[in-house]
Amino acid sequence: MTPVDLAVAGGGLIGLSVAWRAAQRGLSVTVVDDAPGSGASRAAAGMLAPVSEAGYGEEALLRLCLASLERYPAFLDELADATGVRVPLRTAGTLVVGFDDDDMRVLADLQRFHVELGLEVHRLLGREVRRREPALSPRVRGALHVAGDLSVDPRELHPVLLAAAEGAGVRLVRSRVAGLLTEDGRACGLALDGGGEVRASTVVLALGPRSGGLAGTPPIPVRPVKGQILRLRGAAGLLEGTVRALVRGRSVYLVPQGDDGLVVGATVEERGFDATVTAGGVHDLLHDAIELVPGVTELELAETLTRWRPGTPDNAPVLGASGMPGLVLATGHHRNGVLLTPLTGELVAELVVSGEPPALAAPFALDRFGRGPT
Ligand code: GLY
Repeated sequence: MTPVDLAVAGGGLIGLSVAWRAAQRGLSVTVVDDAPGSGASRAAAGMLAPVSEAGYGEEALLRLCLASLERYPAFLDELADATGVRVPLRTAGTLVVGFDDDDMRVLADLQRFHVELGLEVHRLLGREVRRREPALSPRVRGALHVAGDLSVDPRELHPVLLAAAEGAGVRLVRSRVAGLLTEDGRACGLALDGGGEVRASTVVLALGPRSGGLAGTPPIPVRPVKGQILRLRGAAGLLEGTVRALVRGRSVYLVPQGDDGLVVGATVEERGFDATVTAGGVHDLLHDAIELVPGVTELELAETLTRWRPGTPDNAPVLGASGMPGLVLATGHHRNGVLLTPLTGELVAELVVSGEPPALAAPFALDRFGRGPT
């Protein structure tokens, strides 16, 4: 088979956004994935929430996430122009809710952190919170309102991004990536399950949680972080926007999707690739969701599933050089894969096309962990 300019391992949102942008820049691109969009892209609730997901010490990640959020409206416009399908952006904002006094103290600290960073967040008292979201329990003590934190449905976004990529000339090979092909220490393609291969001048690794264990690659510190997540039906009109909450110290989020869907997530577990949906996981999520929004009791439990976030030691993605010539990384997006999709595609395609790491990607190079790149 004739070598292509770029082979992308992984057809989730991240891999497709890189492939689409690279094809638009004139490269011949092949994406390899046996079941594109069936990993973290399928499980994610689709919160575009840099502020409400911001963690202490993660300011660089916050800036990256804000830059990607800023690109979302134009990204969806461009996808609509390319495919004729508009993926809606839910713009009702996000409430970060506290349930008891300890939860409210945590929220007060969080608000101080937001103010230090110059982020726009408003404190609401219990009554104001329920005026905004009347379905919330009267026991909710207060909340922070983050008007700029939005959401999108990744299950709507993925097929549209795939159609745009294919429309731009990207070829999809439906095989499992078995390993990286190398020659004289340089990446030169992908080996496929069953014996085939895709030869390429450059390979982008976008295998999400599998990125850390692929045969032939240098060490990449990405591990699977298990999340159990629920999908409920019958929630039309229940919530306007995303509700994140601390319920007696435990985090939960509720994200309305489509006409009557509600996603409730998610556990955070260090259990490798364990795929079990546990009684305890489902219980905790439902218990906290019902404490917050009693009307959840009436909804249909439509789906339970487990997937894995691609976690890194500092919770930020790994973008750019890998230490191996010809191998570029677009992985480790942990809790922010959907949010970082537009920007990752742009930055990684720019690096592949120009050979120059874009400034925005510089803080996220692999060498921050003390290895690579060359
Ligand atoms: N971003 C939500 C999660 O990782 O569960």
